[in-house]
Amino acid sequence: METPKRRSVAPVYSMCVQPAFIIGTRNEDGTANFAPITWVSVTHEKGDGYLLVISMAGTKRTKQNVLRTGIFSANLVSTDMLPLMDYFGSRHAENGRKDEMEYSVSRGAVLDVPVLDQSRWVYECEVSRTVETGDSATFFCAIRNIQMDERLHCRDTFDVDLTVLDPVIYSGKYHSLGKLLGEIGDFL
Ligand SMILES: Cc1cc2nc3c(=O)[nH]c(=O)nc-3n(C[C@H](O)[C@H](O)[C@H](O)COP(=O)(O)O)c2cc1C
Repeated sequence: METPKRRSVAPVYSMCVQPAFIIGTRNEDGTANFAPITWVSVTHEKGDGYLLVISMAGTKRTKQNVLRTGIFSANLVSTDMLPLMDYFGSRHAENGRKDEMEYSVSRGAVLDVPVLDQSRWVYECEVSRTVETGDSATFFCAIRNIQMDERLHCRDTFDVDLTVLDPVIYSGKYHSLGKLLGEIGDFL
């Protein structure tokens, strides 16, 4: 195994290997709005419950909608959805509806949230706690429903084959996933 040579640099980077989600919310008039958010993680609550943790900065409409309604969908972005992600991320809802690209939307199966039909993994979320840091809000959210691609056959919560989901991985640039390397314990 090669030992890398590192150098210290100023702490100006925020590099974390981030998942890519497009967040679906409802505007005040009930119409749907979508925007990419990659500051997303999970934590555990009690029992079997997981919380989705998601951070939104500034005054973007998506954040305002989540603060107002307390619910949203988190649509995992697969590589075939990159044009959509780029589009939603380069437009602000305050400048008009994001309807210059074609995409189809359904209502969540459990919550009244707009869901992207193209996504292979969708969380329907309800905010249970909000932490503010400067101009950012971090939402800890109960996952009320998961819609997963029918091609996935998960034996348990650790058995999710990401190659089926083909997720976009983000860290300032867009990447795709490499190959499946194994399971917990395979490298002991
Ligand atoms: C790849 C990508 C990742 C982003 N991740 C975040 C994020 O994690 N948090 C955030 O507050 N904004 C993030 N944004 C910015 C919002 O998506 C962007 O401001 C969007 O235009 C907001 O749309 P809205 O005004 O309709 O809510 C990201 C944008 C892109 C393109």
